[in-house]
Amino acid sequence: MTVGIMGNTEATIELDHRHVAHNYAPLPVVAASAEGAWITDVEGRRYLDCLAAYSAVNFGHRNPEVIATAHAQLDAVTLVSRAFHSDRLAPFCAALADLCGKDMVLPMNSGAEAVESGIKVARKWGVDVKGVKTPNIVVAHNNFHGRTTTIISFSDDETARRGFGPYTPGFRSVPFGDADALAPAVDDDTVAVLIEPIQGEAGIIVPPDDYLPRVRALCTERNVLMIADEIQSGLARTGRTFACDHWGVVPDIYLLGKALGGGVLPLSAVVADRDILGVLHPGEHGSTFGGNPLAAAIGSTVVDILRRGEFQRRSTELGAHLHARLNGLKGRGVLAVRGRGLWAGVDIDPAHGTGKQVSLRLAERGVLVKDTHGSTLRFAPPLVITADEIDWAIDRFAEVLGR
Ligand SMILES: Cc1ncc(COP(=O)(O)O)c(C=O)c1O
Repeated sequence: MTVGIMGNTEATIELDHRHVAHNYAPLPVVAASAEGAWITDVEGRRYLDCLAAYSAVNFGHRNPEVIATAHAQLDAVTLVSRAFHSDRLAPFCAALADLCGKDMVLPMNSGAEAVESGIKVARKWGVDVKGVKTPNIVVAHNNFHGRTTTIISFSDDETARRGFGPYTPGFRSVPFGDADALAPAVDDDTVAVLIEPIQGEAGIIVPPDDYLPRVRALCTERNVLMIADEIQSGLARTGRTFACDHWGVVPDIYLLGKALGGGVLPLSAVVADRDILGVLHPGEHGSTFGGNPLAAAIGSTVVDILRRGEFQRRSTELGAHLHARLNGLKGRGVLAVRGRGLWAGVDIDPAHGTGKQVSLRLAERGVLVKDTHGSTLRFAPPLVITADEIDWAIDRFAEVLGR
């Protein structure tokens, strides 16, 4: 049966309930097609997407340049594994490394795989280069880096952890945004500090201005790798290519994903200099699909798009507009607004409903957002959204809060 042509929301959701594992609680919207910042459901209703697949669709649904690359590459070669070279992988890695100001790229698929790979690289660097026997990695409270067994081992989200142990050892967690708390957690066996420069799932938490520069300085001083998970915050979302750029900080390792695949397929990467990524030798790490020619071709187009800077500019300018409009709702159902660029975490006054209730009411009015942590809504539209569309979405939000 082809679900996509059923044209019936209830029947599709019922089929989903029976056959799709219940590891998500989606809004009752069944997408059938999408373009730019808009999604059309199976009934033909249109929704303004203000989530952008958790920032995987930064450049718009079916971005014409990305889709043209995908079509062309589908007609050439799509997968060879890393058993052979492809004419797409090296140019992609060279371009991405250059964008990051680094030497090398380790291509993977999902974001969680990039994080796992970054952890492995840091441990191997610690053992081979730093001479550590039992490496540890310092992470931040309320982090979100994905869902694998090792990654949930250092999460403090009990829902993500409960029942999935035993957990991977070797991590210690300190408060996010507090550089003073970080220093005592670093010892001679510490090989890396792994952080999101702006915490996404935690509710778009922007650290104090001195935080990332002090993390950078401490890592340099103690010969510890600074790993920035820019999987959600990177690639123009905050108005800069990387969120770290806001503070002039360059980490030792960038972890990238989501938007790197142009909203078409999973493509993630660990990006670092040769003295770090060079610790990997044949057979020590890998992925059948990692760096496949289709993903690499799309990734190259994404790097081209980022080089032009238009989406970084859009995010800065339209982000200022989004934040001004959201701040205008403070005291009218909104308690706090955080974020950078076209990325906003909005705390809702519980008197106006839970985050889930407000996102359901917004979906009824044609605006798609998602709640996080009960009473926070996240606005992260595709960066192709216009000022008028932002106004339209925020007017609907004001209506919903005013009910
Ligand atoms: C900062 C961060 N790291 C890692 C991940 C995991 O990415 P994926 O869902 O592609 O495994 C996410 C996903 O939301 C994320 O926000």
